[in-house]
Amino acid sequence: MSIKCVVGLQWGDEGKGKIVDTLSKQADFVVRFQGGHNAGHTVVIGENKFVLHLIPSGILHPGVICVIGNGVVIDPKQFLAELEQLRRKGIRIKNNIFISDRAHLILPYHKVMDNISENKLGQNKIGTTGLGIGPCYTDKYARTGVRIIDLFDPAYLKERIKANLSHKNVMISLAGLKPLAWQDIYKEYLGYARNLKPYVVDARVMLMDALRKNKRILFEGAQGTLLDVDFGTYPFVTSSNADISGLSAGIGITLKKFNSIIGILKAYTTRVGSGPFPTELSGFAGEDLRQRGGEFGATTGRPRRCGWLDLVSARYATEINSVDSIAMTKLDVLSHLKTIKIGMAYKYKGRTIRNFPSGARVLEDCGIVYKEMTGWQKDISAVKSSRDLPAAAKRYLDFIEHSLDTHIKIVSVGPDRKQTLFR
Ligand code: GDP
Ligand code: IMO
Ligand code: MG
Repeated sequence: MSIKCVVGLQWGDEGKGKIVDTLSKQADFVVRFQGGHNAGHTVVIGENKFVLHLIPSGILHPGVICVIGNGVVIDPKQFLAELEQLRRKGIRIKNNIFISDRAHLILPYHKVMDNISENKLGQNKIGTTGLGIGPCYTDKYARTGVRIIDLFDPAYLKERIKANLSHKNVMISLAGLKPLAWQDIYKEYLGYARNLKPYVVDARVMLMDALRKNKRILFEGAQGTLLDVDFGTYPFVTSSNADISGLSAGIGITLKKFNSIIGILKAYTTRVGSGPFPTELSGFAGEDLRQRGGEFGATTGRPRRCGWLDLVSARYATEINSVDSIAMTKLDVLSHLKTIKIGMAYKYKGRTIRNFPSGARVLEDCGIVYKEMTGWQKDISAVKSSRDLPAAAKRYLDFIEHSLDTHIKIVSVGPDRKQTLFR
């Protein structure tokens, strides 16, 4: 039996999609367990680029069955559109994608509420993707959510939408916007019920069965540990458990045996949206990394904030996820640099801090103690074996491994499937 999980160790966009695609070669099932279409996971195969938001990144491998667990919030319109885009690109969709009947639905009012709450926050806004993720999870925990299974009980669906909308419309009107009509939403979602039907299963049962048959399962985390609602830089986080803790609740199985939990760490750090970012680079240095790394959001197109690798938060994320090994991505992006900096510790009110602080306001005021390393100043994007990496690049990897006490088993030197080295 092989059970693996890929999780992001930073603020998302570490390259999870690429690594999941690489590992999908050795998987029978690839499973998403949290988040929604706020995720943007990119896979590049030669000339073809796929950006997956809801559909697991294993879909590009014939024979792999993809599952969306109950912990994911699903916008049916997005789900169906993504399937259509994949079909148009020649990906066969037949009995290879399933969604949990317990997953919560994103409804049109969630998106409206997301934007209202961001506008209300003004300068303190979170910088959400605006896709209704937070309000959908809010309703889930307020026990007013609408689930996939409810699509198949029209009377109940109507009642839920009507009841919810009567509350939401008060807020929508107060914000000076036009109230939504329950009839429109009800009609639209009844249509989705027909279209989604072939994909809906009890995902927990499906995966239990797969486990009994010794199938190989790969779990695909979305976002990253520093965006986790409990352990991230609250309140500048997403609304789900974006670390390994989201897995059990998000699929309904307690997994006692993982073969490996693989933490994805970008060779530097990026963040989209607001919130503290101690190693952020402003001015030319940040812009240079952004351009060279193509750091623009895969979901919203927003420029990503860029900075040096931060080992304080990386150590914290490695611990939280009980990471067995690390896949380091985008090492090639640092190739031009004469000197590379690594954040080693924080300075707060004159004190040195080595543990990641709980408060975003503390983190905001933290200075950084850096270590400087010599760069390799050589293109590594065509390197085929990790043995052939320049000595300075090996030193960078060794130093990080040593600091995090975790092996870096995969090194990614370019976006393409082929630009992946194993150590
Ligand atoms: P995810 O959300 O963690 O799946 O990451 P994204 O897909 O949002 O962002 C990662 C970006 O970096 C995508 O554009 C990838 O194609 C690209 N990428 C992934 N690995 C590498 C790498 O090793 N080098 C370079 N240059 N680009 C990479
Ligand atoms: P992947 O899976 C990077 C960020 C948003 C915002 C915060 C809350 O591609 O790594 P939300 O819409 O979730 O309520 O926004 O979380 N965010 C991401 N940042 N990568 C992602 O996903 C993200 N998903 C959400 O930018 O700061
Ligand atoms: Mg992304």
